[in-house]
Amino acid sequence: MSERHVRVPDLREKKRRGEKIVVLTAYDATMARLLDRAGVDVLLVGDSVGPVVLGYEHTLPVTLDDMLHHTRAVARGTSRALIVADMPFMSYQVSVEEAVRNAGRLLQAGAAAVKVEGGPAIAGAVRRMVEVGIPVMGHLGLQPQSVHQMGGYRRQAVQREEIEALVEDAHGLERAGAFAIVLEAVGDDAARRVTAAVSVPTIGIGAGPHCDGQVLVSHDMLGLFDGHVPSFVKQYARLSDEVTRAARAYADDVRAGRFPEVARPIETPQS
Ligand code: KIV
Repeated sequence: MSERHVRVPDLREKKRRGEKIVVLTAYDATMARLLDRAGVDVLLVGDSVGPVVLGYEHTLPVTLDDMLHHTRAVARGTSRALIVADMPFMSYQVSVEEAVRNAGRLLQAGAAAVKVEGGPAIAGAVRRMVEVGIPVMGHLGLQPQSVHQMGGYRRQAVQREEIEALVEDAHGLERAGAFAIVLEAVGDDAARRVTAAVSVPTIGIGAGPHCDGQVLVSHDMLGLFDGHVPSFVKQYARLSDEVTRAARAYADDVRAGRFPEVARPIETPQS
């Protein structure tokens, strides 16, 4: 019997019960099906699709059309997990109206919620999206869409005042109606403080063990991505080696004439 779909309110309930929330990224139907089968709670169609799948240096070139395409694919492969789609760069920062319209398109593509990066600057957009029925996940700490402003991918919320500001931003997102908040690359203490301060679940990535849940980029966790993998990532497999090994074995077989094998004649009772 298939388990029921994970829903937005289930995540807050998990926090209340002290159950950890399991999140992985997914970008296509096949991977979504495999991760869903493993019982992952949330599949995040991350704009990390840019660097991890599309070959971009960072997430900035990813478009709304890219995200719609990948969200539809993930939705086709998912039967249980909650699907959250990242709103790409410039799809929610320009105006509240654009944010609502673009978020609505991601829900029409199969997401149950959207994720946006930022604090007070986007709180108005978050509030309006939530008012019209679009669940929003926040994202604080390291915000990859602000890579140029941050001057690279650096650890965030290190000084005491920065930790205070992070807690304040998380309160702001909670007040605006966000149902969960990703904390990326902040210290263990900062993550612990935010997690205790808000009633909505925090989902950490490179933010230590005190968050209510954890998210990893699936290609990093599976060892499928050949580029830079952050040091906090635990690799549960080395699929890139396995793929190269299998492709070499196939190439050797084709070149040596071992594949395909000569078809054996079909035996009939008369022969
Ligand atoms: O795009 C993404 O994969 C993300 C996670 C790293 C949280 O935003």
